[in-house]
Amino acid sequence: MSHSDAPLSMTARRSGPLKGEAKVPGDKSISHRALILGALSVGETHITGLLEGEDVLDTAKAMQAFGAQIERVGEGEWKVNGVGVGGFAEPEGVIDCGNSGTGVRLIMGAMATSPITATFTGDASLSRRPMGRVTDPLELFGCEVTSREGKRLPVTIRGAVEPVPVRYKTPVASAQIKSAVLLAGLNAPGETVVIESEATRDHTERMLAGFGATITTEVTEEGRVITLKGRPELVPQPVAVPRDPSSAAFPVAAALIVPGSEIRVPGVSRNPTRDGLYVTLLEMGADITFENEREEGGEPVADLVVRHGPLKGVTVPADRAASMIDEYPILSVIACFAEGTTVMQGVHELRVKESDRIEAMAVGLRANGASVEDTEDTMTVHGTQGLKGGATAATHIDHRIAMSFLVAGLASQQPISVDDGSPIATSFPDFLPLMKTLGAQID
Ligand code: S3P
Repeated sequence: MSHSDAPLSMTARRSGPLKGEAKVPGDKSISHRALILGALSVGETHITGLLEGEDVLDTAKAMQAFGAQIERVGEGEWKVNGVGVGGFAEPEGVIDCGNSGTGVRLIMGAMATSPITATFTGDASLSRRPMGRVTDPLELFGCEVTSREGKRLPVTIRGAVEPVPVRYKTPVASAQIKSAVLLAGLNAPGETVVIESEATRDHTERMLAGFGATITTEVTEEGRVITLKGRPELVPQPVAVPRDPSSAAFPVAAALIVPGSEIRVPGVSRNPTRDGLYVTLLEMGADITFENEREEGGEPVADLVVRHGPLKGVTVPADRAASMIDEYPILSVIACFAEGTTVMQGVHELRVKESDRIEAMAVGLRANGASVEDTEDTMTVHGTQGLKGGATAATHIDHRIAMSFLVAGLASQQPISVDDGSPIATSFPDFLPLMKTLGAQID
């Protein structure tokens, strides 16, 4: 299933209790980084649990185009033979990153300090998204950037021949910007410093340290100051990718809103920079327990046990946004099934994701009978412990919008359809069979 195929309409119907085990795919953020750092190491990186969704497969193809050897040796099991920091070859063709903002932004960073030129493109959704947030700091290293109107794709980067290190304060809380600058800093002499005023997901820092780079994070009055020593020799490491908490959010939400449900979601990452949704759900009174908490592949993980039960509305503060940035669409669905109002503050970044997620959710939920208000930076859902349903939601080439409405349809009075479910393949290729195994009625 590819989202470039014809639109694939899907419908979810009110379902009986969901039961069983939901093995969600590998973490998307960690999967991209494992391939990129593997490509920048000298020798062989062995990855297990890699997400084999379109976004990550596009990054694998891109790393091959830059000269790495990449081989799939089993389900989720990949070998990467890297070219070393500064060893990227100039790709012959255009690098197509499909739907993936993370893929394109991190790869632009990884090549910007090598003396090669590359042109990046993507699908209609990615071509609408802002790239200046990454190309602006990359220019400080000495590369040259040409882009379409509004600093959008296609973008061509002529990498810096003599890169200089950079000290950069990110203007918005974004792990993609931070990571692009750090990856560029790998091939600059001296120290590259990124300062972020709010913590964003720290997989790049963790993995760079694991691959032998000298990288430190200091919490100061200015914010989190991350310092990377340039030109390290990255040493390949086995990477065991934990299951993605952002993908787990969909079966978890389904179990919370479908009466009588009880499911188990094993091996999910509990990285504190990613767990905002789970903090919020516990505040809403959700019946979730975290079992067998342990460490796997440098990340904390746990098995989640989730049971249906009453939920209440809460206010989600702006300073939690970065730790649950991809989970607001599904939270807005859960909020419809809670008693009382849920206010999501500081969520303006949702407007520049795969779609304008505030708009997409507000319009689709209202069409299905919910009471939703939105401003540039907030979304408010007045929960009525249910949803009428009966309408089709537009997904705007956005996997998380598609999955959110399909989950909503499992507990609404009338079915809910989406105009195109094919983008789900970008992050959660087995969403449909997995949800059906639990008892969900989606076709
Ligand atoms: C990601 C960072 C987030 C997130 C995206 C994955 C990453 O984007 O929305 O799905 O892997 O670094 P921003 O950093 O732009 O908020």
